[in-house]
Amino acid sequence: MRAVKLKINKLHANQKFILDNAGKYNVIACGRRFGKTVLAAHLICMCALGVENKGKGQKVAYFANKYGTVLEMWYALINILKPVITHYSKTDGRIELINGGLIYFFSLHNKGIDSARGKSFHRAIVDESGFIRELEAAFENVISANLADYDGDAYFLSSPVKNYFYTLFLRGKEGKSEHWKSFQYSIYDNPYIKKEVVDRLIEFLPESVVNQEYLGQFGDGDLGLFKNLLNSMGAEQTDKPIFDIEKDEKGNDVKVWHEYVFGIDLAKSHDFTVITVIDSTTNEVVHIDRFNEIDYTFQVDRIKKLYDTFSPKIVTVEENNVGVVVIEMMKRIGIKGIKSFKTTNVSKNEIIDNLRVAFEKGLLAIFEHKQLLHELNVFEAKELKGGSLAYEAPSGDFDDCVMSLALAYSPLSLTKKKEKRKVFFGRMGL
Ligand SMILES: Nc1ncnc2c1ncn2[C@@H]1O[C@H](COP(=O)(O)OP(=O)(O)OP(=O)(O)O)[C@@H](O)[C@H]1O
Ligand SMILES: [Mg+2]
Repeated sequence: MRAVKLKINKLHANQKFILDNAGKYNVIACGRRFGKTVLAAHLICMCALGVENKGKGQKVAYFANKYGTVLEMWYALINILKPVITHYSKTDGRIELINGGLIYFFSLHNKGIDSARGKSFHRAIVDESGFIRELEAAFENVISANLADYDGDAYFLSSPVKNYFYTLFLRGKEGKSEHWKSFQYSIYDNPYIKKEVVDRLIEFLPESVVNQEYLGQFGDGDLGLFKNLLNSMGAEQTDKPIFDIEKDEKGNDVKVWHEYVFGIDLAKSHDFTVITVIDSTTNEVVHIDRFNEIDYTFQVDRIKKLYDTFSPKIVTVEENNVGVVVIEMMKRIGIKGIKSFKTTNVSKNEIIDNLRVAFEKGLLAIFEHKQLLHELNVFEAKELKGGSLAYEAPSGDFDDCVMSLALAYSPLSLTKKKEKRKVFFGRMGL
């Protein structure tokens, strides 16, 4: 038989320590860039290639918090395993190997865990576990049963976040069970990253960020006025509306389209117009459009384009001086569901307070949008003379992303029941 050579990274000493000391269930809490993804790819390859199973391929599942992360692993593994792949399908999320090995991919965003039901694995890898909103249900209701047939093992990898991932971490850390092992490393434990580079990167970062993101220590994730932000990052950006496949009474597959709402903060002079799109079926921010063009016609055209794409049910727009004119123009070109918002100190505080509660209670998820995260982290509350609070960005900074988000979320904080309706584009697969 012809020998095939695969390019698999040799593990560094700390990754190897984890492998050598692994138990049945392993929780790996590390700072950024420790090498979690490289380790995960290694674990997948070893299992699918049947390295400890006389070369007979095994079944392994890779789960991650969002589609983009899953896709990265997909391409990395296609690249490594190319010579031994017999079949692959991105839509089905699977790669089949010449020796019978099988790799499944699941994005745990938007009920993705349901597609793992009914399958069995020798190994489950759950990447970015701390950022999976429904990790507890995913593991306890689905993944643990997936591992039953073959008495499979599991690896939970993530930057440290104090949620269910932390509960799992404590199982191994406190030695409550011989089956659970926990490991903790910092970015400095990756020998491929220079210490002086990390020292420079973290020099001006807040201590809480350094501890959690770089040193791999569990903090509270409370970095500003908006709490629990790190834990709220499970959403995925999209340019189109999406649908779920559900069964009708006859057992046929039917597409059920998600519903959307918009929040629009209009540019006044030197600042930005921001349109935030929330998927109100899942309460996830899925799209943000930010631009600094104050020409009314341009702004309205841009709003209309997104409106035609997502068909939002409610479009909340701030009714300042600019707003009155823009709202009129929006109505004239057929935009429906417009809700104008009059900003006063009281009304602004109310929508910002609702947003704070939403993050704190995990009712809303966002995706990694640099400007939004920055604004959320620096947003301040200032005490006014009479003792009341005024929320705003620090002087010289912007708050249009936060305001647009608060406007978009404002009708949802009151909504209890949501109906579903159909729009015209979809995305399936991984
Ligand atoms: N064993 C290894 N051999 C060679 N390079 C490695 C190894 N482990 C990690 N690296 C390199 O270190 C960097 C970080 O690795 P990786 O992406 O796996 O980290 P991570 O912990 O998943 O990071 P993040 O928190 O950003 O997801 C990458 O450039 C990767 O190629
Ligand atoms: Mg990674």
